[in-house]
Amino acid sequence: MSTSMANNSIGFFDSGVGGLTVYSKFRKLMPQENCLYLGDTVHMPYGNKTREELISYARAIMDFYQKKEVKAVVIACNTSSSVAYDVIKDDYDFEIYPIIQNSCEVIGQLPIKSLGLLATKATVESGVYEREIKKYNKNIEIYSHSCINWAKIVEGKEQYTQAGEDEIVADLKNVLKYEPEKIILGCTHYPYLMDILSKYTAPEKFIDPAEYFVNYIKTDLEEKGLIREAVTNGEESVFVTANIASFVTASKMFYNLESVPSLVNLG
Ligand code: DGL
Repeated sequence: MSTSMANNSIGFFDSGVGGLTVYSKFRKLMPQENCLYLGDTVHMPYGNKTREELISYARAIMDFYQKKEVKAVVIACNTSSSVAYDVIKDDYDFEIYPIIQNSCEVIGQLPIKSLGLLATKATVESGVYEREIKKYNKNIEIYSHSCINWAKIVEGKEQYTQAGEDEIVADLKNVLKYEPEKIILGCTHYPYLMDILSKYTAPEKFIDPAEYFVNYIKTDLEEKGLIREAVTNGEESVFVTANIASFVTASKMFYNLESVPSLVNLG
């Protein structure tokens, strides 16, 4: 890719508001970049979808971003990173950053002997977190648990109902019982639940991969000469495939959107 691409936008995507936990950190770190964010809300939740469905959603989004002539796409979605990334990664001529593979380069090198993983069903079943972390830390014990409804709970802001909190606690206990040193929030929706989770265990116990991921992207863009050289802040456009109003409501906890999202149909 030529360095003339440096002024092009970066596209982010997730099934919904979850990827904003990555996007908000990235905007703070690299405010000069022009950014696009897509929430594929018509297909939410991704976590319970089949491999074929997840690959076809990822391709449709990559094709959308290809038409926008982006310089990079950030897969701000663990489920898509675990199932679709390996299949589509060589089919596009822009950079592709998958949250799991990129952040595990750092997480795998932390001095940790036991780790809990809370993630969607598709992410847990893929075994990609274990595979990527064990490349660096062979003897680590990893205790994984699928949180079937957490992404939906976040999208509907149901974590503040008694039923929502009860479900969150029941899932959390499934990894807490192993007393892991740290617990990975392996779905970008889960940092929205920190105020509930931290009622039941110390907030320092949780690892949000986005912390490492955004720094990885910055370093890689720098190495490839893809940083936008500008003194002004970059622009933002947000797209959703359904439910603009609930996306806006749920997003507020993590990020103040600069404008109302546009509805897109990816076919
Ligand atoms: N936030 C996404 C992830 O990181 C998807 C959650 C979902 O839609 O189930 O996996």
